[in-house]
Amino acid sequence: MMTMRVLGIESSCDETGVAVYDTEAGLLAHALHTQMAMHAEYGGVVPELASRDHIRRVVPLTRECLKTAGLTLADLDAIAYTQGPGLGGALLVGAAVANGLAFGLNLPVIPVHHLEGHLLSPMLANPAPEFPFVALLVSGGHTQLMAVRGVGDYDTLGETLDDAAGEAFDKTAKLLGLPYPGGPELSRLAEQGDPARFTLPRPMLRSGDFDMSFSGLKTAVLTLVRQQEAACGGALDHTTRADICRAFQEAIVEVLVSKSLAALKATGMQRLVIAGGVGANRQLRAALDHAAHRRRFAVYYPPLSLCTDNGAMIAYAGAARLTLATPAGAFSVRPRWPLASLEAVAR
Ligand code: KG4
Ligand code: ZN
Repeated sequence: MMTMRVLGIESSCDETGVAVYDTEAGLLAHALHTQMAMHAEYGGVVPELASRDHIRRVVPLTRECLKTAGLTLADLDAIAYTQGPGLGGALLVGAAVANGLAFGLNLPVIPVHHLEGHLLSPMLANPAPEFPFVALLVSGGHTQLMAVRGVGDYDTLGETLDDAAGEAFDKTAKLLGLPYPGGPELSRLAEQGDPARFTLPRPMLRSGDFDMSFSGLKTAVLTLVRQQEAACGGALDHTTRADICRAFQEAIVEVLVSKSLAALKATGMQRLVIAGGVGANRQLRAALDHAAHRRRFAVYYPPLSLCTDNGAMIAYAGAARLTLATPAGAFSVRPRWPLASLEAVAR
């Protein structure tokens, strides 16, 4: 097949990402702007501010990305963008820019499912996994175990019944008074903590299925914090906070690892792929590597920089779905969009 160069635009939440993926040469460049600092003073993402910032960033980032790749707009063959799920207004920015560019350049557009982007992001690692594999998708909004047999051929094995893993990290961090975004901050503190001092519950560890639940864990942390505050008669010291972070991380990692192992066993698959922001967590990676070594399965991660939201995964997923390319024109976004509803790509 002819080489295709796909520009990918991500704007579903608080990161503006632009990338160019070449079906022969691989990822040529990617540029990213994170709005983290802007949302930090509100303790969470403010949708309207997110949309406005995407508008400011997307064109300069596109220029920067093309420059890094040594390309001009004329070198592109298709434009992929995140159609959903995500924040409606934020999605509209990427969708409008992608369709506008494509209309002007007479190129096709490819609407991409954000989670499919995450799911396929380990394909940008070297070595990339082969199909089929079990995917553990752990982001701020989603926590799912999927059986993946090909592009678009996804079965949900299990998912969280309440909070997503990343959400649990963020909410727990917030109640420990850690700065936004809490996940990476909490995990840094956890690394200094003593795993033996506190034990928190492992929700649904033995539920016999692949579903998970993390909202009870957050409540258990709250109870523990109150107990400790009462015991010392004031604010928690650094060591106690680190020990609580460690206990939380131990619990969440054990549940994620144990459910992933059960999914491998049930499907008979020998490859596990981790995707989404929580995939950046070092303790999770260490525990999975350890299990993979013992049980002789292979585990794949996206490169660290591509774990959280980025344009590269959207450009890649777009290139994997060239069959969905349509002429630019009227467009829509899909703030809610179940991953398992996607159509498989013919193989
Ligand atoms: O995939 P992502 O960038 O955005 C969504 O699509 O949701 O994931 C962001 C989530 C946040 O909840 C963040 O706290 C979490 O990933 N996260 C981490 C780490 N880095 C990011 N959680 C735990 N440990 C980390 N190192
Ligand atoms: Zn994401």
